[in-house]
Order: sequence, then structure tokens, then C-alpha cells
Amino acid sequence: MTMKKYLLVTDLDNTLVGDEDSTVKINNFLEAKREQFYLVYATGRSYSSANKLKSEAELLEPDYWVTSVGSEIYHQNIMDVSWANHLSKGWNRGQICAIVEHFSELISQPDCEQNPWKVSFWLNKTADFSIIDNLKNELKKEKLSAQVIFSSGRDVDILPVNANKGNATNYLQKQLKITPENTLVCGDSGNDIHLFEQNVKGVIVNNAQPELLKWYYNNGNANHYLAKSICADGILEAIHYFKMG
Ligand code: GLC
Ligand code: MG
Repeated sequence: MTMKKYLLVTDLDNTLVGDEDSTVKINNFLEAKREQFYLVYATGRSYSSANKLKSEAELLEPDYWVTSVGSEIYHQNIMDVSWANHLSKGWNRGQICAIVEHFSELISQPDCEQNPWKVSFWLNKTADFSIIDNLKNELKKEKLSAQVIFSSGRDVDILPVNANKGNATNYLQKQLKITPENTLVCGDSGNDIHLFEQNVKGVIVNNAQPELLKWYYNNGNANHYLAKSICADGILEAIHYFKMG
């Protein structure tokens, strides 16, 4: 008999990582049940930065990495080229950069956090959040195919329409043939919202950012669980709540 498989897709910063004791606890849990779970780390960080965090926080080796807010997917240290080609359709990075130059409130993130399918900024501390809507409107006006993702009241990512953590999860779900009931996504901030918009079960950890809590109160349904505990303890709570593993 083949063993029932679950797909666990988790954000790293302030979800799987953030509370040391609970990271250890979930590592032990997953190690004991490793064969039952496909483990995916879905992060805003670049692949190299995410790997650095994996060593520092002593995380398990995942089956897949969804990095740079879903603009890249890695498996066995190799970037998924089909995913990259899928994202490139209709994406014109140069034109997007030219538009953003007019937004003085957006400060470019370091080069290591940029990639061919991701343009990232920080919103100036004193700037109004309405800048994000202005940016979206401007891109639309210029008929540029892109999505703007705002996280933690600070991070602004511009990605191809086909990217984001949710679309990447859906791609893996299909590839691995895992049903919605057996998929659990976990997150704490704005760039995780697309995870919860898929046909999946999802846990919003208790320490979630206001933008995700707002999304949950407006859009949450029986598939979504707001954990009582923070970080990885919240994930464990949800695994039990949804009776997975
Ligand atoms: C991570 C990335 C950054 C991104 C943020 C939110 O911090 O390093 O580039 O803007 O996640 O997605
Ligand atoms: Mg996070």
C-alpha cells in the first residue's frame, strides 16, 4: 500500500523560523514523519539567502524551494527552467524599472534580492501606503503585465503575473499530484496571501502581520486556521487541527 502523502508549504521568516524552541519541535516532528510529507520552503528570500538561513536555523532539507516570492523554484539545487519560462511570458522587466524610477518613495533593495523575474523595493518609512495603489495604477495604465506584493508594511515586490508563492504551490501540487485536503500552507505576511488563495488548507500563525490578518478577516473560510500560537508552534497546531500526519 502506498503511504498517504501530504504537501507542507511553509514560509521561513517569522513562520517556520522565529521561535527557536518551536522550530526544534517541528523539526523533530517532521523528521519522524519525513516520508509522509513533501516539504517545501516558500520564502521571499533569494535562494542563497534562504540556504544561509537553513544552516543558521538548522532546518531540515526540503524537497523543493520556492524562493524570491515564488519567482524561482529549486529542486536538488537546480533551478526549474520550465517555471522560469512560464514567468517570462509577457514580462518586461526593463519597462517596469523605468516606471518605478518615478516613485521616489521606493528605495531599491540590494542587488542580491533582485533577479530577472523580481524587482524589489522598500517603502520609505515616512511614505503613505497609498503609494502602492498608485504604483499598481501606473503599471496598469502603461498596460504592463505585473503584480505588486506588499509585505510587512515595508517590502514591495514586483513580479510577473504568473509568479508568487501561491502559483508556485499550485504548480508543485499538480506535479506531485497532491489533493487540496492534503496540502497545508503556512505564513505570516503579505507575500503569503497568495498561498491562502489556492485550493489548500492554510494556517496563519498568531504573530501574523496586519495585512495578512486583514485578509483573513475579510476572506478567510473553513480552509483557513488562525493559530493560537506563534511561528512553528502555530504550524504544529494546524497539523493537528486539520488531522494531517
Ligand atoms: C524577503 C526578501 C525581500 C522581499 C521580502 C518580502 O525579505 O529578501 O526581497 O521584498 O521578503 O517579500
Ligand atoms: Mg514571513
